[in-house]
Amino acid sequence: MKKLLLGLFAALGALAATGIAAAAAIYYLGLIDVAADAPHSPLVYDLIEGARERAIARSSSDIKPPGDLANPERVRRGAGNYAAMCADCHLTPGVANSEIRLGLYPTPPDLTRVAAAGQSADTVAARQFWIIRHGIKASGMPAWSKGGMDDASIWDLTAFLGQLPALSAEQYLNLVAISDGHAHHSAMMGDPAAVAAQPHDDKPGAKPHKH
Ligand code: HEC
Repeated sequence: MKKLLLGLFAALGALAATGIAAAAAIYYLGLIDVAADAPHSPLVYDLIEGARERAIARSSSDIKPPGDLANPERVRRGAGNYAAMCADCHLTPGVANSEIRLGLYPTPPDLTRVAAAGQSADTVAARQFWIIRHGIKASGMPAWSKGGMDDASIWDLTAFLGQLPALSAEQYLNLVAISDGHAHHSAMMGDPAAVAAQPHDDKPGAKPHKH
């Protein structure tokens, strides 16, 4: 019996050592394909997605959305920031795709479509708030709080995302037109009016690009 157990442990040890050696070889020989145009295998993709969703669900479980998320003022304020900072990656009503979205991996979700069914509005909002605030590692999704966006402005964006799937292209453009453009309070960037005046807002001088 003792011999049998020892044999079993030895076999398991050899198996683990082989696994570690194989992983080390893959790592040192540079065999992991990091190209954004080479998708993960379905198994790896599912594992990463599962780990991401579990982590976000855990981290956002204590977040309580403010009671006035449907307030049109919040939605109006969020619209300008969405148009300035998110639309290229996450699309707008009537826009089927963008160059940056086509090239990114993972593909940024189309936020003009309704979020996953089966979750309460509060859970969806808390999840979106957490993602906008902290970003998602090794995807293209930035942690907007690091760029200086404060929580109130992130809730405004969350409020806007709640309405976005119901907007027509015209309604979207009208909302952006009456919003304050790219304006959010931030400790780092200071006065929102000054931020709004920064050249990257409306990209003055930008020529239409051709290729
Ligand atoms: C450079 C591209 C890029 C920009 C700009 C960007 N995002 Fe993202 N975003 C992503 C990617 C990529 C993901 C998916 C990450 C993943 O699957 O791991 C994502 C995911 C999200 C999600 C989760 C969607 C879901 O239901 O799974 C939300 C919400 C979101 N972004 C909101 C925003 C907001 C709001 C802004 C603007 C303030 C923004 N993003 C700007 C690339 C971007």
